[in-house]
Amino acid sequence: MASNTVAYSDDEEEAGQSSSNITGGKLEPYMVAAIDFGTTYSGVAHSFKHDYETDKMKIHCHKWNSGGTNSLASLKMPTTLLLTPDKEFEAFGFEAEESYSRMVDDDAHYGWHYFKHFKMNLHKPKVKLSRDTKIKDDQGQEVLALTIFAESIKFFKNMLMDSLKHAAVKPTDDTITWVLTVPAIWDNSAKQFMREAAVKAGIKDEHLLFALEPEAASVYCKEIAVQRKTGDEGDVFLTSYDPGTKYMVSDLGGGTADFTVREVMADGSIQEVLCASGEAWGGMTVNQEFWKFIEQLVGKDKMKDVFDECKAEQLDFERAIEQQKRELKTDQDGGSIGIKINLGALSEYVEEASAKKLQNTIRKGTLNVKSGRVKIPVSKVKEFFDPSVKNIQEHFSKLFKKKETMGVHNVILVGGFSESKIIQEAVKTILTGKKVVIPQDSGLAVLKGAVLYGHNPGIVSARISRYTYGAEVSRFFLKDFDDEQMRDKKRPDYCQHVFNKLVEKDTLIRVGDTVETEVYALTADMTGMTVSLFYTDKKDPKYTTGCHYLGKMLVEMPDTTGGKDRKVTVSLHFGKTELVFEGVDETSKKHVKVKLDALENVEKKKGK
Ligand SMILES: Nc1ncnc2c1ncn2[C@@H]1O[C@H](COP(=O)(O)OP(=O)(O)OP(=O)(O)O)[C@@H](O)[C@H]1O
Ligand SMILES: [Mg+2]
Repeated sequence: MASNTVAYSDDEEEAGQSSSNITGGKLEPYMVAAIDFGTTYSGVAHSFKHDYETDKMKIHCHKWNSGGTNSLASLKMPTTLLLTPDKEFEAFGFEAEESYSRMVDDDAHYGWHYFKHFKMNLHKPKVKLSRDTKIKDDQGQEVLALTIFAESIKFFKNMLMDSLKHAAVKPTDDTITWVLTVPAIWDNSAKQFMREAAVKAGIKDEHLLFALEPEAASVYCKEIAVQRKTGDEGDVFLTSYDPGTKYMVSDLGGGTADFTVREVMADGSIQEVLCASGEAWGGMTVNQEFWKFIEQLVGKDKMKDVFDECKAEQLDFERAIEQQKRELKTDQDGGSIGIKINLGALSEYVEEASAKKLQNTIRKGTLNVKSGRVKIPVSKVKEFFDPSVKNIQEHFSKLFKKKETMGVHNVILVGGFSESKIIQEAVKTILTGKKVVIPQDSGLAVLKGAVLYGHNPGIVSARISRYTYGAEVSRFFLKDFDDEQMRDKKRPDYCQHVFNKLVEKDTLIRVGDTVETEVYALTADMTGMTVSLFYTDKKDPKYTTGCHYLGKMLVEMPDTTGGKDRKVTVSLHFGKTELVFEGVDETSKKHVKVKLDALENVEKKKGK
């Protein structure tokens, strides 16, 4: 993937470089804090620089109490936010769920704003993201997405700062590097959006880094001891991967399953070998299948009526499904053992006819509905996993046919969904001959990896560009090559909107690399040149039409003595997580550096 986040800060290089900062005689420890914003679950973790230096894995993850009848102990909490009718913060996570369901039961929820699984709103096909983007809440009321994300980030930030309140030495805003995780498929505007939300939440722009989720997971997997070795004395021990090892990381989350391949380099850094790929095959699909089954049992309308009436009931039911899903083991294959769920208020609506009909679809075991409970045989429950299992297995097979996966013998499964025994066995079945590892805290790999990345962004040494980047230029019209409609009406000898390629999709880019091109003056008397940057999925676009606009810069060219023989060097710099667009007038040496603002572009176009 390209390191194409859209803002740039000069101070980024400094973040987290030494282990403490002395201000006013007080020693303030440097710390990295990371927030992993998941589709279904989110978490926050931190580690101090001085701890990292002695034990990298000394990472503190914030713990949450789930509460409720079906309590789930958790190091992550549901990505759920509750705002007051005035759009002020009320609660996040388990607490937001509890409070809102209580309000609904008391009929006191009108006007409040409740959001669940809202992360994917930042990446919707055909929907342009802007600062005005709104998200609909549970009651269909719209709230600015920027407010929703800023309030959520602020919650995690406050939570963490609160937990450090009693520490002997406390970090300050200036001694914390914040890392936010973002999906690899997010475009520039989504990342820019998160940056603005973070700044609104009180995180300083220059203290913020992004970690791409698969990259964070890969950093974590590179650091943990997963490789079994035998010592001289025949003793067996575990180490982290040796240089030269290629490994695949599969992050099986709630929303998506993504797959990526990295290689460990001689200096211990990691380099991307295969771009992240994958789709919405995460754990949520199982809950959806579960839900569909109960709907068939009770009747869709009845179920809606009951849950509309009693939100707490719905919440308990959702939690029961979640808990049962997590506790399911593949060795419970017998027909009589299954999962049991209390139907609660739904029980009086279970129709014998539909139960009988569903029973006929079950290959092994009995569907038992008795005294307010439904017992579903394991054979049926396993079918709820079928859609994601099938997609995940097929994707593994497809990936292992690619040339980039040659020599990949190690596959690490991370993400909450990889804790499922059904998933683990399905993957091991399809990957016979490979070494499949599931780390103990696989659900926290992205979060912990983001902390490790914050301490040492240099661990990521090279990435594969997800896009082709280019500057828009005008040049002489080439008769048998150019399209007539691209001819410049004012200067017919020239062709407009030409895509001058800077980087081609799928090429390996080292972090810190700069690519350059030269653009000559169009007229002898021009005193400035505007250069626009575009990106596209295509490998070799001729023109910028149909490509995505990223930003532009105006390079001053005050000295016109060279006439048309003057040039501007345009460059694109791939920083740690940022992309910088620069232009230098070679005559006057005047230069301009641009913060690419993808969101502003959307707004400007809208405002026209
Ligand atoms: N033991 C388990 N068995 C089955 N599923 C599990 C288990 N533990 C967690 N899950 C599922 O894993 C998913 C959550 O994983 P994770 O926290 O990695 O996702 P996320 O970060 O919210 O999603 P994404 O990465 O797609 O944005 C949920 O669907 C949850 O039900
Ligand atoms: Mg995740």
